[in-house]
Amino acid sequence: MSDLLFPAGFLWGAATAAHQVEGDNTNSDWWAFELKRATPCKEPSGNAIEHYLRYPRDIALLAGLGLNTYRFSVEWARIEPVEGRFDETQLDHYRKMVDLCRKSKLTPMVTLNHFTLPKWLADRGGWLSPSIVRLFEEYTRHVVKALGDRVEWYCTINEPGVVAFGGYGGGFAFPPGLKGAENWKGATAQLIEAHKASRAIIKELRPNAKVGLTNAMQEWEANAGGTPIMNYARSLTEDSYLEAAADDDFVGVQTYTRARVDMRRAFGWLTKAALSVDAIEKLLVSQVVGRQTAADATPDGAEPIRRTQMGYEFRPQAVAATVRRVAKLLPGKPIVVTEHGVATADDAERIEFITEGLKSLHPLIDEGIPLRGYVHWSAFDNFEWAFGYDMKFGLIEVDRATQQRTMKPSARFLGRIARTNKLTLPDS
Ligand code: BGC
Repeated sequence: MSDLLFPAGFLWGAATAAHQVEGDNTNSDWWAFELKRATPCKEPSGNAIEHYLRYPRDIALLAGLGLNTYRFSVEWARIEPVEGRFDETQLDHYRKMVDLCRKSKLTPMVTLNHFTLPKWLADRGGWLSPSIVRLFEEYTRHVVKALGDRVEWYCTINEPGVVAFGGYGGGFAFPPGLKGAENWKGATAQLIEAHKASRAIIKELRPNAKVGLTNAMQEWEANAGGTPIMNYARSLTEDSYLEAAADDDFVGVQTYTRARVDMRRAFGWLTKAALSVDAIEKLLVSQVVGRQTAADATPDGAEPIRRTQMGYEFRPQAVAATVRRVAKLLPGKPIVVTEHGVATADDAERIEFITEGLKSLHPLIDEGIPLRGYVHWSAFDNFEWAFGYDMKFGLIEVDRATQQRTMKPSARFLGRIARTNKLTLPDS
């Protein structure tokens, strides 16, 4: 047996997002999107896993495992259900959650915005609304005042790159479902501005808080000729946000897979559109998010690709590539893996995913990269956006008919790593 030791104070956690677990988020844009007649969503979120009501027990489960961090989001649509009306009862709800985390020896890591917007704001254009930066600032001020000294780690906006591309550029199953380069760029600019404005408010109210963005990042690989398009796609979806994080306290890295850019497949689009947004859009849709079937082969057609329930390549080590990239672009910047996980019905695969992910990350610490923590996605099986409840990302299983929680072996596995601060590997 050999042990991979992690630095003292390493954050070991699991994550959720309000809309995916709380239930009945009725004032949000996602709620409306799920219920509209031509929705691309498989099913509505409904009562989700009732985390809004059941959080005391859920927090006890996470603490009982031995984790030391719980990353969750507070819900803008609940806190400000009508413009300018901040609901003290809801702020109090999140204050209680934070207090309970602390009492349970879980460091609360709070995300201010995880994909959802209040419906009234979405109706005004969402991330394209000219007032959204100011409104996000106001919202930040109320939340941070309410949570006071209780929260040290704040994530402003979750995966702005996914929001901008999915909702405004690529026309994904993501509200408002817009397409086009102008919308994409407009949303990107406002997300970045909102992040910076929010960070400034947090620092004004809580100078010692650690503030960062959480970024969706892929390990990228291109076959011969694909490199320019890979660089272009990566700069739009990742690097612009990393540049915006230059003055942040930490960078949150969220990696699920590897994107393979195949020049031969991109060729048709490229000759037609020569690195236009359209080409990138198609490339990303097919390579990163699309569920590939016939093309289940590497770019060179050599070996079949092992896939997760999401259709992504099973590639736990991708996270080391993305952490390394952040360290290269922002040397010395503290990094937290704020999401890393796999959708699978076979929990042994989750244990393998965690093991291989941590094995790939560990050498980076020895190299001096300031990796501060590992937060797994997700604490519980939950509402996977347009994919609904079929995708099993949880360390803890939830039977939605009874709302019963059942620990999976992977939960205990990660808990043991957290308690001992080491990963023990069997001799090979
Ligand atoms: C998001 C989560 C999502 C997860 C798995 C991330 O993009 O932050 O909300 O559930 O990936 O797809």
